[in-house]
Amino acid sequence: MDFKRYLITSALPYANGPIHIGHLAGGYLPADIYVRYLRAQKRDVKFISGSDEHGVPITIRAMREGITPQQVVDKYHEMMKDSFAKMGISFDIYSRTSSVTHRDTSQAFFSKLYNDGVFEEKESEQYYDEEHDVFLADRYIIGTCPVCGNPNAYGDQCERCGSTLSPEILINPHSALSHSKLVKKLTKHWYFPLNKYEDWLKEWIVEGKKNEWKPNVYGQCKSWLDSGLQPRAMTRDSNWGVPVPLPDAKGKVLYVWFDAPIGYISATKELTNQWADYWCKEDTKLVHFIGKDNIVFHCIIFPAMLKAHGGFVLPDNVPANEFLNIEGEKVSTSRNWAVWVHEYLEDFPEQQDLLRYVLCANAPETKDNDFTWKDFQDRVNGELVSIFGNFVNRAFVLMHKLCKGKVPRLHNELLTDRDKELIAAIGNAKTLVESNIENYKFRDGLFEVIDLARKGNKYLQDCAPWSLAKTPELQVENQMQIDNCLHICLQLTANLSILINPFLPFTAQKMIYMMKVVERMLDWENAGRMNLLNAGYPLRAPELLFRKIEDAEIALQVEKLKGRAIKPTQDVEPTPEKEVAALAETKPAAPAKDTITFDDFAKIDLRAGTILTAEKVEKADKLLKLTVDMGTEHRTIVSGIAMHFAPEDIVGKQVTVVANLAPRKMRGIESQGMILMAENAAGKLIFVSPAEHTDAGSEVK
Ligand code: 2FM
Ligand code: ZN
Repeated sequence: MDFKRYLITSALPYANGPIHIGHLAGGYLPADIYVRYLRAQKRDVKFISGSDEHGVPITIRAMREGITPQQVVDKYHEMMKDSFAKMGISFDIYSRTSSVTHRDTSQAFFSKLYNDGVFEEKESEQYYDEEHDVFLADRYIIGTCPVCGNPNAYGDQCERCGSTLSPEILINPHSALSHSKLVKKLTKHWYFPLNKYEDWLKEWIVEGKKNEWKPNVYGQCKSWLDSGLQPRAMTRDSNWGVPVPLPDAKGKVLYVWFDAPIGYISATKELTNQWADYWCKEDTKLVHFIGKDNIVFHCIIFPAMLKAHGGFVLPDNVPANEFLNIEGEKVSTSRNWAVWVHEYLEDFPEQQDLLRYVLCANAPETKDNDFTWKDFQDRVNGELVSIFGNFVNRAFVLMHKLCKGKVPRLHNELLTDRDKELIAAIGNAKTLVESNIENYKFRDGLFEVIDLARKGNKYLQDCAPWSLAKTPELQVENQMQIDNCLHICLQLTANLSILINPFLPFTAQKMIYMMKVVERMLDWENAGRMNLLNAGYPLRAPELLFRKIEDAEIALQVEKLKGRAIKPTQDVEPTPEKEVAALAETKPAAPAKDTITFDDFAKIDLRAGTILTAEKVEKADKLLKLTVDMGTEHRTIVSGIAMHFAPEDIVGKQVTVVANLAPRKMRGIESQGMILMAENAAGKLIFVSPAEHTDAGSEVK
């Protein structure tokens, strides 16, 4: 289909923390590349995003920071918007879901479905935390994942295996706020009957999108559809969110995943009076750029909502990316394991394109990928500086040296096969970049541009205009060859600026400044042309497009990342809220140890002991000095648990002690044994205690 309009969205990020490079690589940089390409093609495009300011992620952050949800979103909305702008993510609008337009739009959407009788109204028993006197959102419920056994799965999703869950299917669910067991209470909610849209979704996705959508996206949808869809509550008991627009819905708000995608519509309304052209006319191409954790919401739930409402276009594609890890570990905001964009911008001022380059070259398009600072350095120095930057710089320097600072003319009659080959490669690169971008293969598109620059370097090396200039007896003919070589190199430079522009817009701007040409030259239709710079036209002196990254800079970044990361076992204040956030990043299970014989096991003297006293060890943050009653004696044991327990809270506790461990001095104190602890996936320590009180000194076997 020939599309007249393009409506491109990037997921609305929760306004609960700064932007990190994982965000950029997931749904923002690819969208920006796509949009810049479409704009260069003069297509009618709107690029929409904004902050997602509702839902549990916001209220959790508010609790953690001891401020109101409104303060949270005000703070982070501005911060995120600023980071995106500085990185050149060129939204036409970056709105927020706390806007009045959004409230009105999402309430009207809900009311239309309500009035059309779409919702099923159900009273159901929901989990309630009596200590805190609140119904618990799914995220506030923790239990064991029935799929993979992760003991810290959330009520809506298991972060370890990615399964979508519900509190009902969690094993041993309990409150993340008070850790208490949950009670159930009756509450009324409005359910969207996803099951009724199952057949339609199957036809639309399984039959219609199989060859169009990325395999990772299609696969996730297919498995959802295969396992059958259930009605899903579209309202929640909460005081933070868009109020449900019904008279009998006090204390209820729209489910954040109901209102957030409608945020794309509200933001378009804020942007243009023509918003309905983009959302309602069939010849609009709607594309959602997201990370993989958002697939089901954008491919199944939101389209079903749009279908139920009627009158809206459906997404043509949802090119979701996988996740970007950092130095081999999953990004974790609560563990501070992240490269924050605002910090990158401070440490590498004016170097946005270096990060854009590496994040695109290493984008998690088909599988999770790893960002490492070493790879950042290697790619910048080995690809941007040595290939692309080097070619452009050499072309300019040689033109100034051998052609008096002006674009030399082309002597057609002297064109060699080598010249013709490079000219053909330029046209070819345009076609390849184009088809890669159109198919959401941004890495491949970028590599084609670099490859073209690589060909330019080789061509220059083979022509060696500097050596032609050294034989004055052949001056006239040689000068013509020099002219041809540099003419072609400069036309190639102009072409490179067009092709690189969607990926590295700051670089393209520097290049058009150096070439003294107007912005319009970057129009995509100009790519492939060999007359972009007129013969005789004087060009500016070159400036280096990219700077080299030094070893010391990389070492500093790695040190910064590792130095400030909160180790999973170092949870300073294990408040429930903090734990909830920390649970998102579970530690991998410890590898199984080698088998031992019973005799090996029997060598360990395990005993129940009772903690009599506990005190902090001076100048050792992690250590507590304990006196433990072992039945026949009192032992001093130094234990590395000070980050997890206050001394006064553990006096009287029964614990399991390794009683025959060789004594060891710690901070000058002799430790006469070891206390056994279990460590959960979030790094929390739990005493391994006898289930019932027993005599101190009882043997454990
Ligand atoms: O995962 C997230 O950060 C969500 N806030 C994305 C919402 S995308 C859309 F629906 F608005
Ligand atoms: Zn799981």
